[in-house]
Amino acid sequence: MVEVKICIGTACYVMGGANFLLIKEKLSDKERKKVKLEFVPCLGYCKSGKGKPPFVLINGKIYEKIVDVDALIEIIRENIEK
Ligand code: FES
Repeated sequence: MVEVKICIGTACYVMGGANFLLIKEKLSDKERKKVKLEFVPCLGYCKSGKGKPPFVLINGKIYEKIVDVDALIEIIRENIEK
């Protein structure tokens, strides 16, 4: 199971995170069964000065500056294959 926590705090949301709301429609049924998706409030990374929003936490690892929902799906697929 791949655990995906998508930050929808203000900084992440305005920097492209809003686009991630489409993710459920973009994953196949098979993929959806392997992914636990959660939309969470500010993860705190935007205030740390490290990296750029939008941030997504995948299996405990933080990914930053994810350009769009397709890029996010790519990362999730890599994690499914692991
Ligand atoms: S708004 Fe996403 S880490 Fe703060």
